[in-house]
Amino acid sequence: MIDFHIPFETFSDWFEKAKESEPNDPNAMNLATCTPDGKPSSRMVLLKDFDQRGFVFYTNLESRKGNELALNQHVALNFHWKSLRKQVRVEGVAESVTDEEADAYYQSRARGSRIGAWASAQSRPMEGMFVLERRVAEFTAKFNIGEIPRPDHWSGFRVVPQTIEFWSDGKFRLHERIVYHRDGEAWTTERLFPWVKYERYNARTNDHQRRRVRAAGHPGWRFDAGGRDCIGYRRIDSDCDEVRRVDHDG
Ligand SMILES: Cc1cc2nc3c(=O)[nH]c(=O)nc-3n(C[C@H](O)[C@H](O)[C@H](O)COP(=O)(O)O)c2cc1C
Repeated sequence: MIDFHIPFETFSDWFEKAKESEPNDPNAMNLATCTPDGKPSSRMVLLKDFDQRGFVFYTNLESRKGNELALNQHVALNFHWKSLRKQVRVEGVAESVTDEEADAYYQSRARGSRIGAWASAQSRPMEGMFVLERRVAEFTAKFNIGEIPRPDHWSGFRVVPQTIEFWSDGKFRLHERIVYHRDGEAWTTERLFPWVKYERYNARTNDHQRRRVRAAGHPGWRFDAGGRDCIGYRRIDSDCDEVRRVDHDG
């Protein structure tokens, strides 16, 4: 069961577990942005910091996401830790981090990564890898052994969450979903029905059609009961022989 305490503590608990069990990049998260006219795009980025204020990532401000964020700050994040069978969904607004924060993180990066931030015109067309290699060589020579300042086009965003959903894989796919909604300084919580997989079962002919039906909720036996005669639904992944009959209700 998911504990009902403040969402960042739950996130922190799960993230610490993910660090132990994920083979790589436990801090990888999907970031979805949207153009002002509602066309979405998504990509993976790395979570570099988080606290009560939100979730921080860094990027090139002239990239596709950077351009979309300049016009529409509403974003969604998604963490999926396969080893834990857990998902965290975040929706909120991306605010720029301060220059001091961005400088501090930039200077903590490896020298090669700092040069890469200068060399890569992220998301713009590139003739071939040789162009990137040439630019890396140029900036390596330019900065030589001196300081590498943070480029103006490179900084970070803090996603300030309005909602955070914790999804946990459950027995027989009875997944647990708890959503936190920001309410001023506090959070309200609610449970949501999970997604459940069903197998369609024709009770009259005893013919397992093996068709998977997505039922929006549990038990949801009557969902999509659009076939002829008696149609039952049997839960997939279930050891128990749980078959129920429902009358076709038109
Ligand atoms: C695991 C993983 C982590 C990544 N982390 C970042 C990141 O922290 N920042 C970033 O700008 N791109 C990161 N990328 C690359 C992005 O997915 C993407 O290719 C790039 O940012 C350009 O996206 P855009 O054209 O939508 O702006 C990462 C990719 C992967 C697969």
